[in-house]
Amino acid sequence: MPHIVFNKAPLVNTPSKKDGVDFKFIAKSYNFTQHERNTEYKIAVENENKEFLLTLKNKDDDQMIKIDKVTRIAPITLVKDALNVYTNSIEAKVVFSNTNTINQKAEPNKEYLKDINYFVDEFQTDKEIQIEVGFGSGRHLLHQAKKNPNVQFIGLEIHTPSIEQALKQMKLQDITNVLIVNYDARLFMEFIDSNKVGKIFVHFPVPWDKKPHRRIYSNEFINEALRVLKVEGTLELRTDSRKYFDYCTELLTNLPTGKITIDINKDLEITSKYEDRWRKQGKNIYDVVLLSHSIDKPLEIQKDFSFDFEINYEEKIKNIPTKSIVEKDFFVHIEDLFTILNEENSGLIQLTMGNFDRPVSKYLIIKNGKVSYYQGTPIPTSSNIKAHNKLKEILN
Ligand SMILES: C[S@@+](CC[C@H](N)C(=O)[O-])C[C@H]1O[C@@H](n2cnc3c(N)ncnc32)[C@H](O)[C@@H]1O
Repeated sequence: MPHIVFNKAPLVNTPSKKDGVDFKFIAKSYNFTQHERNTEYKIAVENENKEFLLTLKNKDDDQMIKIDKVTRIAPITLVKDALNVYTNSIEAKVVFSNTNTINQKAEPNKEYLKDINYFVDEFQTDKEIQIEVGFGSGRHLLHQAKKNPNVQFIGLEIHTPSIEQALKQMKLQDITNVLIVNYDARLFMEFIDSNKVGKIFVHFPVPWDKKPHRRIYSNEFINEALRVLKVEGTLELRTDSRKYFDYCTELLTNLPTGKITIDINKDLEITSKYEDRWRKQGKNIYDVVLLSHSIDKPLEIQKDFSFDFEINYEEKIKNIPTKSIVEKDFFVHIEDLFTILNEENSGLIQLTMGNFDRPVSKYLIIKNGKVSYYQGTPIPTSSNIKAHNKLKEILN
């Protein structure tokens, strides 16, 4: 984690600019607890058109300035530059620094690796879509992609080495009809249009026997799968876990629509690393395929994250709830509060919100009573929208 420790020194003046880095404002921690707390500052910076915060606090007899984890940006060199420019501009006596920006690794080619925002704002295709959930080594995904050049594949995975391996293989094998997303498959489908997907493969998902709430399959997941599947589209589970098979079969047989087919030890054209291992151990492999019959309503993504009112921040923070507010499918937790120095009715609210499985950390910035999200709005998942509406209630 890049940081610099230096002898105590006065804060930089804001607004000011040095060596291309803008220091826009400084916010000071607000003590909403009954106890003493160490003062912490958030320094708002802009470098190469990217805005982010730096954290400044005392460290023993010195001070330390470092990256703010919530607003961290890529490439990290922008943050390291800002840290170096900060200490230079106040002529600090540096005690320790790990912000040398020489020898940065070049970013690998990530043309086919897409951010979730791409699917929110840009993704469009006339081709049939097929999705693989948790593609692991990517053997099955890439095999299908080569065999079906007219299909647009989307591979979902949360394990970075698997993603890098798949991207490498795609380049070596010249595969161009796969988009890879590092995102939780349980939440991804929310951004895909209805009736567009031919197949969803879920091969050997982690069975999570002790933590069933982490399983890919749930009523919500199946309903979203049915919405995105076109008529005759399929949701295909392949698993070696008898418990997972029973659990999914029960969910699927309670649906009001669809048709399911069950197979044991069916041969596929391609086997994965996991399948090879289970077969060698003589385990049964179960397939449960759900066939969709329904045409669903088009997708409407709610994207309104505005605050259509002004607040009296100084009054509001005196009794703002700082305990987690947990509701059925979302939560809001106000984690910390800051007031901006030398500016009236202005501050930062640090919070975590949204879905329990994929919480987002954000800051709200209040300038002259006007509230907005710092560094842009959250991804418009249904949980984030609900959490936003709760925040409006809290702040209004
Ligand atoms: C047991 S491996 C199976 C990999 C591959 N499908 C195969 O058959 O070899 C399960 C994979 O699912 C991924 N995974 C687990 N939970 C996930 C989630 N919520 N969203 C996307 N991928 C997930 C894991 O990182 C892992 O690579």
